[in-house]
Amino acid sequence: MKATVRAHPNIALVKYWGKRDEALILPHQSSLSLTLAPIHVTTTVEFGAPSDTVELHGHVARGSERDRVLRLLDAVRVQAGRDLGPAKVVSRGDFPMAAGLASSAAGFAALAVAGRAAAGLPADTRASSILARRGSGSACRSVQGGFCEWQRGERADGEDSYAVQRFDAGHWADLRMVVAILDRGEKEVKSRDGMKGTVETSPYYPAWVKDAEAEVPRARELIAKRDLEALGELCERNAWRMHATSLAADPPLCYLNASTLGLIQHLREQRKKGVPVWFTLDAGPNPVLLTDAAHEIAAEALARACGAVDVVRCVPGGDATLLSEHLF
Ligand code: PMV
Repeated sequence: MKATVRAHPNIALVKYWGKRDEALILPHQSSLSLTLAPIHVTTTVEFGAPSDTVELHGHVARGSERDRVLRLLDAVRVQAGRDLGPAKVVSRGDFPMAAGLASSAAGFAALAVAGRAAAGLPADTRASSILARRGSGSACRSVQGGFCEWQRGERADGEDSYAVQRFDAGHWADLRMVVAILDRGEKEVKSRDGMKGTVETSPYYPAWVKDAEAEVPRARELIAKRDLEALGELCERNAWRMHATSLAADPPLCYLNASTLGLIQHLREQRKKGVPVWFTLDAGPNPVLLTDAAHEIAAEALARACGAVDVVRCVPGGDATLLSEHLF
């Protein structure tokens, strides 16, 4: 029983920041993202292996990294309702892991879809999104392509907390996301610790939750109209507010560095000159620039001029898909 799936990472336009349930990975607010191609992660899962083994990006996973993968497969075993035996997992990505792009999002989305297929379970985007969410929250938005909305849900068991596709990748084929890698270093505080500290200590956190929830339908409307300028402004506002609530945590959490601010400042000047380019920023120093096809080369050039050591140009990506070729 072997299956292989390719999934793309996603970039949140309205961020997820903070859990209401740490174990099930349930968010306080909804979020909305764009799936990014051509970068991807490919994962092969086989049940009935001699022992549980997990190989991620060329190394044998250990400790909590291994446990997260095996926990997700335990949930697949429960869904299958039978003993599937030990599992072998091999996963590989084709983009710089330190880019601050959540490789874990693509990885857990691929693992969830491949795990279900290897167990003989039928294709089911909702079930796969819920499974992927339990590996890493943002992964629930990488099961499908295009623009996906992770609805926070209300239930304590998390069965209503999953992502739904609002528009497919073809809806806005002209949109471009350019990842500006300013710093390749590992981030000092992982998202999961950063958001926990923010939820527990930031006096601004309740305001963040209320605001982000209200931005999701607004972003959806702007995507429907393909209004790049208004969506760019919304993305920047939402990223600033996520970072503002984190800066107000105790101890304070600052993911930006001097070159991040330099690039942001430069974007403002470029916009005054008529270049349509905006940024968003996850829990790290590397901004992702939002622009259109006609300006992606200009966006790359200005990222490099501001110190980017590498640049990854992305287009809207598609669904996680089953492949006939396996990694082992
Ligand atoms: O899913 P995680 O634990 O990698 O957290 C993702 C958090 C952000 O990337 C900052 C925002 C988001 O919605 O992707």
